[in-house]
Amino acid sequence: MSLHRISVIGTGYLGATHAAGMAELGHEVIGVDSDPARIGALAEGRVPFHEPGLPELLAKHVASGRLQFTTSLKEAAERADTHFICVGTPQGPDGAADVSHIHAVIDQLVPMLTTPTLIVGKSTVPVGTAQALMERIARIAKPGVEVDLAWNPEFLREGYAVKDTLHPNRLVIGATTPDAEWTLRDLYQGPIAEGVPVVVTDLPTSELVKVAANAFLATKISFINSMAELCEATGADVTLLADALGHDERIGRRFLNSGLGFGGGCLPKDIRALVARADELGRPESVRFLRDMDEINQRRRDRIVEMAAASVGSFRGVKIAVLGASFKPDSDDVRDSPALDVAIRLQEAGAFVTIYDPAANLTARAIAPTLRFAANALTACRKADLVLHLTEWAEFGELDPAAVGDVVRRKVLIDARNALDVHRWQDADWVVHAPGRSLDALDKHAERVSRDGGHRHVHDAKMPEGCEATTRRSPQEISDDGRAQPTEA
Ligand SMILES: NC(=O)c1ccc[n+]([C@@H]2O[C@H](COP(=O)([O-])OP(=O)(O)OC[C@H]3O[C@@H](n4cnc5c(N)ncnc54)[C@H](O)[C@@H]3O)[C@@H](O)[C@H]2O)c1
Repeated sequence: MSLHRISVIGTGYLGATHAAGMAELGHEVIGVDSDPARIGALAEGRVPFHEPGLPELLAKHVASGRLQFTTSLKEAAERADTHFICVGTPQGPDGAADVSHIHAVIDQLVPMLTTPTLIVGKSTVPVGTAQALMERIARIAKPGVEVDLAWNPEFLREGYAVKDTLHPNRLVIGATTPDAEWTLRDLYQGPIAEGVPVVVTDLPTSELVKVAANAFLATKISFINSMAELCEATGADVTLLADALGHDERIGRRFLNSGLGFGGGCLPKDIRALVARADELGRPESVRFLRDMDEINQRRRDRIVEMAAASVGSFRGVKIAVLGASFKPDSDDVRDSPALDVAIRLQEAGAFVTIYDPAANLTARAIAPTLRFAANALTACRKADLVLHLTEWAEFGELDPAAVGDVVRRKVLIDARNALDVHRWQDADWVVHAPGRSLDALDKHAERVSRDGGHRHVHDAKMPEGCEATTRRSPQEISDDGRAQPTEA
């Protein structure tokens, strides 16, 4: 592997991790961002967001000098010969992805280039963007300077970003020249040597892979959530249904966790952008089902608010403790967070809401400054009439139901993520509700077992095959590092 001098333009969740990861792979990296505060923090070795393992990696390579940061694109143009574009592509007002940040980078960077250069897009973009950028680059590049473009979509999951960057499950290289493909293969020689599969494609396929992957995952989550609606109408249990479905290898158990639904900076915006792009391409029918997936997902938030209303009657003057604000555990990202959305709605309906999130109190407060935030779960739950479990952080699974019971006014819990061991809470005399589950039926079953077999608790009893899984995560839900899988990509 040769040492490459690269720049990473846009140092948010994706770019900061990619920059540190490329330094770890042995390259000289300069990270560029238009936000001076972000660059100031990164240059001092501080990660301005929560991502396990990234602070250590960043500090290591800032100290080694292999990783530097600047706000100057000119400096990056002079020092690097491969530029990764990692700027945001947020959802525009019509649902389409806003690619203006990418255009701004290309328009500024390309005229400054004086030597042969490869630009590599990593941001998630509507199919066809790369082709349009190639034409733009050809128009604005200095005469005689070769500027090539490749697309290398990123599949990292927040919370697992470092692992996903250094050991991805696949590398997709969208390239139109052998040189571009060779450069990217050489850059990623470490992971490739480990056996990471490489899929080389044309540009449009590489753009589609990322949105297609997210559309598939969103569909799987919304599918099980649509089944949860039927479970609620019939008294069936969606967690058992998911376990039973998941044993079929063609289906698999992952991404079949029913609950509050998906959110974050990727899945919701990516499926809406795909719908908008299909409209533009004159193929609206091809992904029409994604509108339904989006609607099913939004209905989960309504459902949890309904369940809360059913638990407390009127919200006026009611104190609600909300556990979790980030869109998924191990992240402080609150973009389109279902947890924060529900908390805001409850407050708007008149409840006194206090939130605790292990990492996202600050990011959530920036969006919802009128909510109250607590320093820990017990403080959030003090004198609460209702406790809502909205983001499945591991520490919430470790809470002692008896200790929480000592501080609340009423022992009522909604496990909106179907991630807690509800029987532990029931054993501590909590009334527990969970979407897609009829916990009363489980209670009745427990009573029956108790009468017939002398066992008092459901999870103590010898359960019929399949029931056991209600109290444990199935193996497919546990990641390589032993942590519970997040809800979202
Ligand atoms: N967050 C993820 O988990 C993830 C995973 C895979 C792909 N993606 C995709 O990666 C892209 C970036 O996502 P993110 O979550 O890192 O976004 P982000 O908002 O966290 O970061 C974007 C960064 O780009 C910077 N920026 C914007 N315009 C700039 C410019 N002209 N010059 C320099 N910097 C500029 C912003 O200041 C910001 O720091 C998106 O297309 C997203 O869909 C994200």
